[in-house]
Amino acid sequence: MLVRDSLIAAVGTRAQVEALPESKAAEKLDLGGRVALPGFVDSHTHLIHAASRAEEFEMKIAGASYEEIARKGGGILNSVKKLRAATAQDLKKRALEALTKFAAHGTTTVEAKSGYGLDVASELKILGLHKELAEAQPLDIVSTFLGAHVVPQEFRGKTDGADKYLALLTDKLMPEVTGQKLAEFCDVFCDRGAFTRKQSKVVLEAGKKLGLTPRLHAEQLSRTGAVELAVEVGAASCDHLEQVDSGDIHALGKSGTVATLLPGCDFYLGLKRYAPARALIDAGAIVSLATDYNPGTSPTLSMPMILSLACAQLRMTPAEAITAATINAAFALRREKTIGSLEVGKQADMAIFEVADYREIPYYFGVNHCWMTVKRGRVIHADAKAAI
Ligand code: NIG
Ligand code: FE
Repeated sequence: MLVRDSLIAAVGTRAQVEALPESKAAEKLDLGGRVALPGFVDSHTHLIHAASRAEEFEMKIAGASYEEIARKGGGILNSVKKLRAATAQDLKKRALEALTKFAAHGTTTVEAKSGYGLDVASELKILGLHKELAEAQPLDIVSTFLGAHVVPQEFRGKTDGADKYLALLTDKLMPEVTGQKLAEFCDVFCDRGAFTRKQSKVVLEAGKKLGLTPRLHAEQLSRTGAVELAVEVGAASCDHLEQVDSGDIHALGKSGTVATLLPGCDFYLGLKRYAPARALIDAGAIVSLATDYNPGTSPTLSMPMILSLACAQLRMTPAEAITAATINAAFALRREKTIGSLEVGKQADMAIFEVADYREIPYYFGVNHCWMTVKRGRVIHADAKAAI
């Protein structure tokens, strides 16, 4: 591969690329026969949060379900309390440390959602940090507004509290978000305990009018009709999909809305029901994979671990899983023309693995074999043993 500035200028056999006149003067990066992939595109994360929820981990082990923990004041509202109390500086520091680890696991683009602020100032604080983080470190950050994550505590006692909160989002916060160009996508948690299909539609339609592309948390804990809504509004992606029925699978098979699967959640929550990846692929759906990095349901930032789960639990082949984590994920972020594959004209974003065969990447689990990560042609992570 020949890289010029930050882009891929040529791809071919060693002989073909070395024969190009421009290659003579190029700086050489010998990967020693290791496996090179397009950098992972992690299309679903809740990057900015103030702290872990390790205290809830033990409640869960003792038998409490995710929804029971939420009803006891844990869950998303626990993270909201922590985030509101945190300084922007502390949030930024935590996110920067996480992004360094994302890069060390081969990820080169990260989608990041707001949603632990749930008031005007705190949501704007998170989205402002997405912008600052994009400038402060090499990974691309794709910003998503998730004000409709759950109804915040202060609206819960009110009559029509949920609708009043949504009106605050659509009439005040979202125009501010788009006015300051702080997000590209609008997401809603459309599920039991969060927002109904009808409420979700109001938010996504309002977002569309302001120029935000819809995406959805869909059919994770219960089936709400969120997939139908995603297809109806032309969402870039609908994510989770553990509870989909055959009609949903068929609808996704015919649509351009990506089916993003997040097996880290089911693994971590100990749920036995994974999304029906095989049926989705067989129906013709565009299947993608992401970490859903967040403190409540998926505290991992490792795409290689997600690939292992996809292969071992969702019965995707290693090739399908890698496709899902790269080019299909790029499509889910509407960036398929610039990232997600190693083709001429695309960004030189690469993850190099210390394995003999690409199938060994998901085959080993819980082990990070990423040896080097390259972003826009620049080495941003290298194993201690890599001489660069
Ligand atoms: O994607 N489902 C909603 N949001 C997150 C969980 C957030 C949390 O528990 O903090 C998810 O699973
Ligand atoms: Fe999520």
